[in-house]
Amino acid sequence: MDSREMTGAAKKPLSLGVLVSGTGSNLQAILDAIAQGRLDARVSVVISNRENAPALARARAAGVPALTIPHQAFADRAAFDRALHTALAEAEVDWVVLAGFMRVLTPTFLRAFAGRVVNIHPSLLPAFPGVDAVKQALAHGVKITGCTVHFVNQGVDSGKIIAQHAVPVTAEDDLSTLSARIHAAEHELFVNVLEDIAAGRLLPLPSEATEA
Ligand code: GRF
Repeated sequence: MDSREMTGAAKKPLSLGVLVSGTGSNLQAILDAIAQGRLDARVSVVISNRENAPALARARAAGVPALTIPHQAFADRAAFDRALHTALAEAEVDWVVLAGFMRVLTPTFLRAFAGRVVNIHPSLLPAFPGVDAVKQALAHGVKITGCTVHFVNQGVDSGKIIAQHAVPVTAEDDLSTLSARIHAAEHELFVNVLEDIAAGRLLPLPSEATEA
């Protein structure tokens, strides 16, 4: 029994900082799961590197602070990451969730959040890392693809895999139908992983901070 249980104080929900660059449907799935009481967490801040990312409006609609930190405004990646780190630290974030965030993070940033940064990617890694993963899967004619949640290291989509969900590819699929099917799987998979983190079933992975 810890001191909170002894005093009967409520357990503090997991504090998430969500980094986005675009539509924010994964962010929405996280916000919805919290609102439904399925995920014992709160999104303390949403940060976009793009000013017009629709994800920002989704955050504001849910009453979550939403900031833009435009990467172009900084001399280099290190300076941009320092600004991100400051904003996340001010919001007292426990874990950083990359939900369609299109920038690679520096080792210094990753060390600061030692093994507490997770990303979602629209393929069964290690197949099709990087941009246009769904397009790559279609071009290769794979019959099964899917999505992956992984810890973030300094490489591109190369961190330790946490969970995956397979998605079939049909002969009729085009980019839009296959992307929609993968997105639906992503929303479920990401929330499942965050539930595991919130419940203490998935622990930080500090070694990811230094591995490529
Ligand atoms: C998702 O497909 C995710 O896997 C990738 O970027 C996309 C973001 O979609 N990293 P959304 O902005 O959450 O709708």
